[in-house]
Amino acid sequence: MMNSLAVLIQITAVFYPLNSLEKGARYEEEDGFKSLYLNGTAYATTPAVDFGKTSFTMASWVKLQSPDQHPATIYGYWDDPALFLFDAYAFTKLRFQMINSKRKPKPSINEGSPPIDEWFHAAAIWDQNENTAHLYLNGQEVGSQRVPSDTYLKESSQPRYDIGLKRDGSDTLKGYLRNLIIIGKALTYEELDNTTGITDPNNELLDGVWIGLNDVNTEGTFRWPDNTHVTYTKWASNQPDNQYDYQDCVEMTVDEGTWDDTSCGRQLPFVCEKKT
Ligand SMILES: *[C@@H]1O[C@H](CO)[C@@H](O)[C@H](O)[C@H]1NC(C)=O
Ligand SMILES: *[C@@H]1O[C@H](CO)[C@@H](O)[C@H](O)[C@H]1NC(C)=O
Repeated sequence: MMNSLAVLIQITAVFYPLNSLEKGARYEEEDGFKSLYLNGTAYATTPAVDFGKTSFTMASWVKLQSPDQHPATIYGYWDDPALFLFDAYAFTKLRFQMINSKRKPKPSINEGSPPIDEWFHAAAIWDQNENTAHLYLNGQEVGSQRVPSDTYLKESSQPRYDIGLKRDGSDTLKGYLRNLIIIGKALTYEELDNTTGITDPNNELLDGVWIGLNDVNTEGTFRWPDNTHVTYTKWASNQPDNQYDYQDCVEMTVDEGTWDDTSCGRQLPFVCEKKT
C-alpha cells in the first residue's frame, strides 16, 4: 500500500488521492524509496482540503535539489487569496505560514536549516486548541508561535492545493518528496514518529529491527522478500494494525521480540537469516 502512495491526506477518515501530476511530475525511485520527483517546472495537486476550524499536521520527507534563492513549496495554496504555505529554502530555512482573518501571514515561522541533496523530514503542526503553530525539522522542534485565538485556516474557494508550487510567483520545488501526510489533527511527536518514521539522530535507543516481512504489494498479505511461505509469526497484541493505512513493513521489537507493522520509511537496522 505505502509504495503506491506518495501522499496521504486524512481528514475525518476520508483518504484523498493525489489529484494531478503537472508538467512532467512523476514517481521515481530515489535511494530505494518511491518518491514524487519534481524537475523544477513540475508540480502536483491535491483536492482542496477543508480543514474546517481544526488542528492539522502536514509532514513530508524532502530531498531538495533547488538553489536556495527559490522557495520550494512542500504543500500549500499561495495565490490570491493565499491560504497557507509550508516550504523550504535549502540551507536557509523551513517556513510555515497561515493567512489570518486580517490577511496577514500569522503564524509565520521561519526557522531551521534544511540541507540540500539529502533527505530531511519536515513537519508543520497547527494546534487549534492551543492557538499555536509548531515547525519540526528531522524530529526537532525548530520553532513555534502562539497567535490570537481567533486564528484559523480560512475556508478555501479553490479546487486544489499544490505540492511543489508557489502559485503567485510560479516558484517550484526541484527535488523529491515522499510520505507526504496531511492529517486533520495536531500530532504529538510520538504519533508523528510512528507515522512517518523520523529517527532522532541523538537517540541511540534501539527499539526494533527490520525483519524483511512486508505487505507492500497487497495490503494484509505479508510476504518474505524471498517469497518463502510465512509459516511462523509472532505479532504483538493488536498487530498488524496498518495504522493510518500507512504501515507495510514489519519490525521486531528488541525488548520482547514481537512483531509490529510500521512505516517503511523508518530508518532501522535489519537482521538476516543465515543457513547453518
Ligand atoms: C520538466 O519536465 C517537463 C516534461 O518532461 C519538461 O517540459 C520541462 O522542460 C522540464 N523542466 C526542466 C527544468 O527540466
Ligand atoms: C507508537 O508506537 C509504539 C510501538 O508500536 C506504541 O507502543 C505507541 O503507543 C505508539 N504511540 C502513539 C502515540 O501512537
